[in-house]
Amino acid sequence: MNQPPVLISEQDIQARVAELAAQISADYSDKGDIVLVGVLKGSFIFLADLSRRLTIPRTIEFIAVSSYATGSISSGAVRLVMDVRGNIENRHVLIVEDIVDTGHTLKYLIGILESHHPASIKTAALLHKPERAEVEVPIDYIGFGIGDEWVVGYGLDYAEHERTLPYIGIIEPTD
Ligand code: IMP
Repeated sequence: MNQPPVLISEQDIQARVAELAAQISADYSDKGDIVLVGVLKGSFIFLADLSRRLTIPRTIEFIAVSSYATGSISSGAVRLVMDVRGNIENRHVLIVEDIVDTGHTLKYLIGILESHHPASIKTAALLHKPERAEVEVPIDYIGFGIGDEWVVGYGLDYAEHERTLPYIGIIEPTD
């Protein structure tokens, strides 16, 4: 595969992640500690960079859902593949997502995590496609708003490819 054209450079991502981390650290400074819940697989690089830049006490959990069968075609329903393992009851939870597209996945995740009775739930997404929104879902921290295009890199894939690209690139889905 040729290198996908750059939509957001590595430098711009790092600068924005630093800003988000500063904002989150300030917002939670009076809360004690937080638990970052990374949504597998797409958030793993964003979570790694964001979590290391926070200046507040934090722990890490993972949750896995599947919403797209293969490629870029939505399978419709969201399915829980793996719930959080640790106890998040009475903890301040920050869901860390790679991208919010239609919003179904994040809405579903909030429901699942609410059932664990955390003290609070907030959401962070590196990318947001506002034009594609189908359900209303609160996104407290957004890295970048983007258009209706398929993006890869920095954790995001197209049929499992291109997750390790260091920047956000655009590809033309063939399905
Ligand atoms: P939603 O439920 O439609 O908001 O979809 C969210 C999930 O779809 C994300 O967590 C991604 O896994 C996937 N997704 C949506 N758009 C893209 C994209 O442009 N590139 C890669 N994955 C995407």
